Amino acid sequence: MFGSMGKRLVEIPLCCMLVSVVVFAQLTLQQQQQQVVPLSSGVERVALLQLRSSLGIRSKDWPRKADPCSAWVGITCTNGRVTGINVSGFRRTRLGSLNPQFSVDALRNFTLLASFNASNFALPGQIPGWFGQQLVSLQVLDLRSCLISGSIPSSLGNLTNLTGLFLSDNNLTGVIPSSLGKLLRVLNLDFSQNSLSGSIPSSFTSLKTLTFLGLSSNALSGSIPTGFGNLTGLQQLNLSGNHLSGLIPPQLGDLGRLLDLDLSSNNFSGSVPSDLQKLRSLQKLLVNDNLLGGSLPDDLFSSGQSQLQVVVFRNNLLTGPIPSGLWLLPQLILLDISGNNFTGLLPGGILNATVTTAILNISGNSLYGNLTSSLRRFSHSDLSGNYFEGMVPAYVLANASLGKNCLQNVSNQRTAGECASFYASKGLVFDNFGRPITPPPAPLSPKSKKSKKWLYILVGVLGGVALILLLAAICCLLFICGRRKGSLNQRAAGGEPASTGGATTSPSGAPTSLARVGDSYTYQQLLQATDQFSELNLIKHGHSGDLFRGMVEGGVPAVVKKIDVTVVKRELYTVELDFFSKVSHGRFVPFLGHCLENENEKYLVYKYMPNEDLSTAMLKKTATEDDSLLSLDWIKRLKIAVGTAEALTYLHHECSPPLVHRDVQASSILLDDKYEVRLGSLSDVSAQEGDTHQSRITRLLRLPSASETGTSANCAYDVYCFGKVLLELVTGKLGLSASNDAETKEFIDQTLPYINIYDKELVTKIVDPLLIVDEDFLEEVWAMAIIARSCLNPKPARRPPMRYILKALENPLKIVREENTGSGRLRTTSSRGSWNAGLFGSWRSSSDLAVVPGSSATKAEGTSKQSGTTGSQGSGHNGNGSSSRRRHSKEICPEPSDVQDVERQEQD
Ligand SMILES: *[C@@H]1O[C@H](CO)[C@@H](O)[C@H](O)[C@H]1NC(C)=O
Ligand SMILES: *[C@@H]1O[C@H](CO)[C@@H](O)[C@H](O)[C@H]1NC(C)=O
Ligand SMILES: *[C@@H]1O[C@H](CO)[C@@H](O)[C@H](O)[C@H]1NC(C)=O
Ligand SMILES: *[C@@H]1O[C@H](CO)[C@@H](O)[C@H](O)[C@H]1NC(C)=O
Ligand SMILES: *[C@@H]1O[C@H](CO)[C@@H](O)[C@H](O)[C@H]1NC(C)=O
Ligand SMILES: *[C@@H]1O[C@H](CO)[C@@H](O)[C@H](O)[C@H]1NC(C)=O
Ligand SMILES: *[C@@H]1O[C@H](CO)[C@@H](O)[C@H](O)[C@H]1NC(C)=O
Ligand SMILES: *[C@@H]1O[C@H](CO)[C@@H](O)[C@H](O)[C@H]1NC(C)=O
Repeated sequence: MFGSMGKRLVEIPLCCMLVSVVVFAQLTLQQQQQQVVPLSSGVERVALLQLRSSLGIRSKDWPRKADPCSAWVGITCTNGRVTGINVSGFRRTRLGSLNPQFSVDALRNFTLLASFNASNFALPGQIPGWFGQQLVSLQVLDLRSCLISGSIPSSLGNLTNLTGLFLSDNNLTGVIPSSLGKLLRVLNLDFSQNSLSGSIPSSFTSLKTLTFLGLSSNALSGSIPTGFGNLTGLQQLNLSGNHLSGLIPPQLGDLGRLLDLDLSSNNFSGSVPSDLQKLRSLQKLLVNDNLLGGSLPDDLFSSGQSQLQVVVFRNNLLTGPIPSGLWLLPQLILLDISGNNFTGLLPGGILNATVTTAILNISGNSLYGNLTSSLRRFSHSDLSGNYFEGMVPAYVLANASLGKNCLQNVSNQRTAGECASFYASKGLVFDNFGRPITPPPAPLSPKSKKSKKWLYILVGVLGGVALILLLAAICCLLFICGRRKGSLNQRAAGGEPASTGGATTSPSGAPTSLARVGDSYTYQQLLQATDQFSELNLIKHGHSGDLFRGMVEGGVPAVVKKIDVTVVKRELYTVELDFFSKVSHGRFVPFLGHCLENENEKYLVYKYMPNEDLSTAMLKKTATEDDSLLSLDWIKRLKIAVGTAEALTYLHHECSPPLVHRDVQASSILLDDKYEVRLGSLSDVSAQEGDTHQSRITRLLRLPSASETGTSANCAYDVYCFGKVLLELVTGKLGLSASNDAETKEFIDQTLPYINIYDKELVTKIVDPLLIVDEDFLEEVWAMAIIARSCLNPKPARRPPMRYILKALENPLKIVREENTGSGRLRTTSSRGSWNAGLFGSWRSSSDLAVVPGSSATKAEGTSKQSGTTGSQGSGHNGNGSSSRRRHSKEICPEPSDVQDVERQEQD
């Protein structure tokens, strides 16, 4: 085609082309000028004059002598025939305005009339029924604000070429004729601001071309017809100001192009369906002044609805927390949820928002806690009538209504009693406006007052002395503890036997009975096994010794750790030997034996793990058939997470005293041929410092906690490290769990905001690109990310205990589903103390997303089958590695007392 065109271009000289272009342009210009053909139809000329007089059109607009097609305002002609009449906003003649009538009989004679627009032109009277029979070519009928009364003629349903029917702002009464359902080309239907009654015709559900439906401010009743979800072209749906009732149909969520949904000021009841989250184009959502109840679905708002600008839930009966996604909407201009009974805390973090001048009204709810930086994006806010406490940040103070709260240094607040009892009902202590809580004055007789006074002074003096003594004691203790820390490992691991309790270590650290643990190899045997410790067999230089691959007697593949006690601490291997002397658990690397005959070099021998460790496994990419690289798949990753959690749960909760691993990282997680976890790197294991007085004092004095410096022997430190392992599994960020440097910290800080308990999609931004995550697994990935996040809580005390983490990993879908779908029943059963609450207790108080989740029982039943199967699939078939807990993974949400009982029994 281009070839032939090029040929022709060559053939025709350029000048000829230019000439022809110019000629063509002139021709079309003439045609356009000629297009205003004078009115050719005599019938239409007469009809126009009739209309001119019956409507009282001024000669200024329609000059009698001139040609209507070229000179009359608002007349459109096609080939000398009238196709459009527009008298919108015309003023009538003085005579015509004396007695304005809806007298448009002459319109019958315009057989090609496509558009009649008389908006803002008084036509008191009824729409003639013959419109529907005679104006058959009509495409647009615009009679807005025409003072029309009476009902809408059902014959209008015959105008099947109609694309726009605008009848708003009149005094139309009666019902909306169901015949209008035949207007199969209609784009705009506007009947708002009339007195129409009856229900919305169900025939409207066939108007598939409809983009705008305005029925606001009428007296319509009944419910929204089912099948409205079929109106997929709809961009604006305005039903406000009627008497509509019933539920908001979930099918409205199918209106994917909807920009504007206004259901306000009706009698809608029930809860807000979470299907509305599918309205990805929505800019305005108004459902205020209805009878909506229950709590908003947590997933109602997500980053998917990045277009939402106006959200109004004012004056309903809504309860529960504000969905966190609502705060994250980037385009928000107005958020009004006032006059409900929302409760919960404001989220903490500074959120990304393109608009920072938004307006917020959350007044008249039961919100509480401190005012947070989430309020920064609002230039005006009404926070009154809640239970907020604490100081008012400067950025709020200027432009906010704060009355009737529990805030400090603000006038017109609730009484201390009111606030205290509210906070008490939430299980919290009210800050009492920042003032110390004064004890109720005891009734004192004037006489005894004096002696009491002396008593107070005495108590004060004694108290002071006691305080000084206490501080002195604390200093001593700290000093002593600091001194003793160096020998802690040894004491911790050896001092208190974990289960058997036979092993002892001599003061020099040399093992005595430990030599009986495992087989005893000779140095010669090991030289042979590792080919003289050949470089080729070196696996790596570990921090507690060099690891060599080898083959011990009987052809058993093994790993030999060579420990140079002149370089690393002697205790390290005794700790490990001690550990193996007491612990034989399927989740730890199988210990084969040792060689202690050399003075300065000791050797420990373990069974070789075919899949080495997690860091290698993550690195390894197997090419699949279609040449794409396949990393460790999700099922394996979940299984590894569960296995590791089992090992740590054993250490933290089943050993007495609790043991801390202290080197939890990907390279410590060894994997057997079935990718079962066999935790290694056990030379740092020590007894948990636990709640010894030292850590209590450290906390008391707000000294930097040792766990933050990375050396502490407490379980929370293991949990933190495990959190990094989980994050590594989710993100595929290699080496994350192995390092503690600023870059790692930065990566964690940047990644955690993408882990949101209310927004599944967000996590896809951080998921390992090598991980092929289908929709089925995404929820599990999301759950693991959430667990990782709660493990990475900067406050050690807020990190969940390992046993809860294990339960959570065994039931990953419970995390996301329960938090998102928990019905009232579930919420009450998962009260404080259950594993779930244990996990999310830390989540809620974690630094920057302190939002209390809410509930709706509507979501995602369909996929819940998945939960049982993949959960066990991920960690099943693990013969030797399983603990008895596994079998109980179905008992999803144990009552707190059960958990504690079980644990007590296990410990006994
Ligand atoms: C206009 O139409 C009406 C009804 O169809 C008819 O009676 C009348 O004669 C027509 N007027 C002219 C001028 O033809
Ligand atoms: C409706 O429009 C189509 C084309 O748009 C036209 O062919 C048809 O005649 C019109 N119907 C009427 C009744 O004018
Ligand atoms: C127009 O509609 C009315 C009622 O909807 C019907 O009775 C009438 O037959 C229709 N007329 C034509 C010409 O289609
Ligand atoms: C609307 O019509 C009703 C009854 O037909 C009448 O009482 C009322 O005054 C009218 N309202 C307006 C604004 O014309
Ligand atoms: C909605 O559309 C579907 C398929 O297009 C159809 O089967 C169904 O009957 C429609 N519902 C209504 C109420 O029109
Ligand atoms: C709000 O909800 C709480 C329970 O969360 C209830 O005690 C209180 O009465 C409710 N307030 C209103 C005004 O409904
Ligand atoms: C927040 O915005 C900054 C820049 O405006 C961007 O770099 C960052 O990724 C955003 N964070 C989130 C969580 O969207
Ligand atoms: C508000 O902040 C204060 C001081 O930071 C804190 O003690 C209090 O617990 C916070 N209130 C809530 C409900 O979190």
